[in-house]
Order: sequence, then C-alpha cells, then structure tokens
Amino acid sequence: MTAPLPSLQAIAPEIVCLADHERRAAEVLDANAWAYFSGGAGDERCLQANRSAWDALPLWPRVLRPLAQGHTRIRLLGQEYAHPLLVAPMAFQRLAHADGELASAYAAAALGAGFTLSTQASLPLELPAQAVLGTAGRGPLWFQLYLQHDRGFTRELVQRVERAGYEALVLTVDAPVSGVRDRERRAGFRLPAGISAVNLQGLAPAPAAAPGEAALCAGMLRHAPTWEDLAWLQAQTRLPVLLKGILHPLDALQAARLQAAGILVSNHGGRTLDSAPATAFALPRIVQALQDSPGNAAALPVIVDGGIRRGTDVLKAMALGASAVMVGRPIVWGLAHAGAAGVAHVLRLLRDELEIAMALTGCATLADAPAALLDD
Ligand SMILES: Cc1cc2nc3c(=O)[nH]c(=O)nc-3n(C[C@H](O)[C@H](O)[C@H](O)COP(=O)(O)O)c2cc1C
Repeated sequence: MTAPLPSLQAIAPEIVCLADHERRAAEVLDANAWAYFSGGAGDERCLQANRSAWDALPLWPRVLRPLAQGHTRIRLLGQEYAHPLLVAPMAFQRLAHADGELASAYAAAALGAGFTLSTQASLPLELPAQAVLGTAGRGPLWFQLYLQHDRGFTRELVQRVERAGYEALVLTVDAPVSGVRDRERRAGFRLPAGISAVNLQGLAPAPAAAPGEAALCAGMLRHAPTWEDLAWLQAQTRLPVLLKGILHPLDALQAARLQAAGILVSNHGGRTLDSAPATAFALPRIVQALQDSPGNAAALPVIVDGGIRRGTDVLKAMALGASAVMVGRPIVWGLAHAGAAGVAHVLRLLRDELEIAMALTGCATLADAPAALLDD
C-alpha cells in the first residue's frame, strides 16, 4: 500500500508556523488530552529550557557564498534521506485524532520524514508499517521500545516488530519511571475507554512490592533496565539498536563502547526529570566527548529532540553536530486539528523553514551548518 500524499489544501491559510498549529490544537483538544500532550514534569523548567536554549543560540549569516546545487540530504545508518526530520515516538496518538499513529506515519512517509512508533502506540504496530513500507522516498521506519519486566514478552514483541518490517529499535532509557506530571494530575488525566497500549496486551502486571518494602524501589524499579540489558537486547535482534534519552557525555561514550547504533540526545521533551539540561546544551558536549574519544565513537549517529519548533532550530542542531532531529509535540498539534494533512503541514513548514535558514546563512548543504555558529 502506498501512502497517499495528504492534501495540504485542507489547512487554513492563516496557519503559517508550528505555534499556529499549537493554538488550533489547544482549541480542539479537551483539557484531559491537552494536559497529556502539552505538559512536562514538575515545574516544567526542563520543558521551557529546551525552547529557550535553542532561542539563545544566534545563527551568524555568511553572505555571497555559492548556494547553487544546495540540498538538505543526510546519511543515517548507511542510508541517504532527503532531509533530517524524524517524527518522535509519542504514545496514545488516537487521543489526539481517530486515525492516530496511522495518520502520522502516512504523513511522515509522504513528506520523506522518518517515523518512530511508540511501544505505547494506540493501534497495532503492523498497521503503520503496512501503510508506509512501500512508499517511495519515505524516511526510516523505527520502533521505540520500553523493555518490559517480562523479558519473554519483550522478546516476542521485538520479533513482531521485525516481522512487521521496522528497520531499527529505539530503546528509551530515560524513563524507568514516569516523571512527576503535575499538569496531568491537576487535570485528572485518564485514558478514555477504547484507547490503550494495544501492543502490550497480554503482558502480566509487574509483581508489586511486598508490604513494608519501598513501593517504587522494590516494585517496578526492580525490573528497570541496565546497561547489561542492552547486550541482551542486541542478542535478541538483527535490528540496529539506538538509545534514546542520553544526556550525559559519559553515557554517550558507554553507548558507543557497547556498539549502540546511535544515540538520541533527549530529555523526553521535559516529561521525565525536571531540571535535566536542555538538549541544545547537552548536544555539543556529547558531540565533543565522542570526537575526543579514541576509536570510531565520533562516527556514532547523534540525533537530538526537545523544543524543535523552527527550521532555524533544525539548522542549529545540525550545526552543533546532530545527524538528524526528532520532532515531538508539533506532530500531535497538526494531527489533532487536521489529521494526516496537519502532520504533513507541520513537516512541510519545518523543511521549508530549514531551506530558507540555510540560504540565509550561506549553507548550501547541512555539512556547511557549523559555519553558522560562532563559539563565544
Ligand atoms: C505526548 C507525548 C508522548 C510521548 N511518548 C513517548 C513514548 O512513548 N516513548 C518515548 O520514548 N518518548 C515519548 N515521548 C517523548 C518524545 O519522543 C520526544 O522525546 C519529545 O516529545 C521531544 O520533545 P518535543 O515534544 O519538545 O519535540 C512522548 C512525548 C510526548 C509529548
């Protein structure tokens, strides 16, 4: 099945940037869904810091440089793609729109963007894969994995993911437990009937702590993944395994040593540890640490997410050494008010803005991007 190109005509002409999509989404989503999609952890300092860190970085225009034959192409895991935009894994997208993850995957494929399905997707993992695998010019199709306490269940899930045609696993490592989500708790957030993590059906609940034991430490954290589990996972699968949620340079070096296929510099969009560093702040430190490391750590793909809202943010990320960027909430904003067309519009805007930012900084290709930053 080939993904139809979603018609961008359906989008109101006054929607010209991602913040406009956010306003429309806020109008159509109920308070329950809005709190879930837009909130962060605690005082939301990390959520805000992600944005302000990109904003604080100036781009220094270079003029009169040759721009003919410019392009936005990148290479990732041995493949060439038209541009560096990937859709981040986000759970329960049917809470935003009846078509949920299927619409996001369609739109991403039609726009040549990558798509990562969450373990907590709200429809069977086979559906988005069947819908987009035949699309010419699509981006990478990945599956985000949360290791489950039942490793046998996890192994079977991974086998299902492989059979469905996903091309890599993105192992999320920054959420052994959910963050303190004040906004969700204030809104009394609950998943409505009919929306659930359908791909985890049949998973028995994790054994609870015994009476008198610390509920979290002796309960679910007893099964929290460790570095040893990365080797376990790599032994279960032929797919490349990327690690999502790396912020500390030493963890990036450890990931490289353990043959991760790539890392995602991410603080889960400010939804796990409030006070974690902004990703624009962590990214250059990680890139530097990998470059300074002996061996071929410098070749490790480094993807970044968190607060990417403008093409200029994408260019800044690439200038700081990212191999590609992931976009989270803006995808849900487009999805919420306009389904696949809304997601496609969000991706189109970002790509157009990226090309304009490249032209105005004198970057013919993304390899030129570092020249747009100056170390102060
Ligand atoms: C509503 C929502 C659900 C998310 N669900 C997941 C998930 O299931 N797995 C995961 O690894 N990350 C999840 N994330 C984090 C995103 O993959 C990504 O790291 C983050 O949204 C990027 O920041 P941004 O929203 O500012 O672009 C979720 C984020 C949001 C907003």
